[in-house]
Amino acid sequence: MPVGDVGADGTLTPVIIRSVPALRQAVAEFRHAGQRVALVPTMGALHGGHMALVEAARQAAERVVVSIFLNPAQFGPTEDLANYPRSEVADLRQLAAAGVDLVFMPEAGEIYGPGFATSVNVAGPAAGLESAARPHFFTGVATVVSKLLLQCQPDVAAFGEKDYQQLQVVRRMVRDLDIPCEILAVATVREADGLACSSRNAYLSPAERAIAPRLYENLHATAARLEAGGDINAEIERCMANLHEAKFDRIDYLALCDGESLKPLSELRDKARLLAAVRLGKTRLIDNLAVQGRQ
Ligand code: PAJ
Repeated sequence: MPVGDVGADGTLTPVIIRSVPALRQAVAEFRHAGQRVALVPTMGALHGGHMALVEAARQAAERVVVSIFLNPAQFGPTEDLANYPRSEVADLRQLAAAGVDLVFMPEAGEIYGPGFATSVNVAGPAAGLESAARPHFFTGVATVVSKLLLQCQPDVAAFGEKDYQQLQVVRRMVRDLDIPCEILAVATVREADGLACSSRNAYLSPAERAIAPRLYENLHATAARLEAGGDINAEIERCMANLHEAKFDRIDYLALCDGESLKPLSELRDKARLLAAVRLGKTRLIDNLAVQGRQ
């Protein structure tokens, strides 16, 4: 098993693997030594949210593999693939400091070889919400996540509740395709003012950054009012009005949904989730919160 290198500045870098056969061999060696393996799929530009996934993965398994792959298949033609933040050196430093064993960083051709013609299409929880604005998004996510799970074959893979619909789509896919991997959900990591950490927060101007935490603030207040018995339609309308007043440019959706199927709820039930996507200038922000039903 190769070990991490020490860079010119004395910092440790984790082992970087770029091909599927090399990944398979490294993971097979872990398995052979009787060690559990956890995978954390990411697109890089790592922040505190990603690192919480790494920490959860470390608690769940002896070996942690992080994948960094900016997946073109989940970006629409007018989306931000070309401008998506990249910070490879800083990412590798953070992962080394966190004790990550392997970083899988394939080129696009390693994932989508010549003649690639297969996609994984999840219905159910993928319908609505994000799919309205991004119709091909979850097919791109499900295809790459199924490939990463097959390539690495981890015992457990960690996903953030920040992307709550994605988490439910991955859970549904793993169940439906009998992929033998446990899915670990990790709570959303937030900045001190409540804004959910996101690679896309880097796009916000100072003025937009000052508005952004009002998304969480309003979701939090709405969740509390719903838990206290507030009428769903009235509270959703009130929250929308408050978000407009806070100067968000557009609300793509704001909905109370079942926490697993993501179907809209007309009355509060156990495991309900309040989910929102808003635009602030050119940046799209998403967030969500659990809403507890009354016992
Ligand atoms: P990316 O946006 O890089 O996120 C990687 C993982 O980090 C996802 O599971 C996401 O939910 C989690 N995450 C992001 N921000 C978080 C936060 N503030 N708190 C907790 N977790 C957070 O999501 C993707 O990449 C891609 O769609 C991917 C699953 C890698 C497939 O390409």
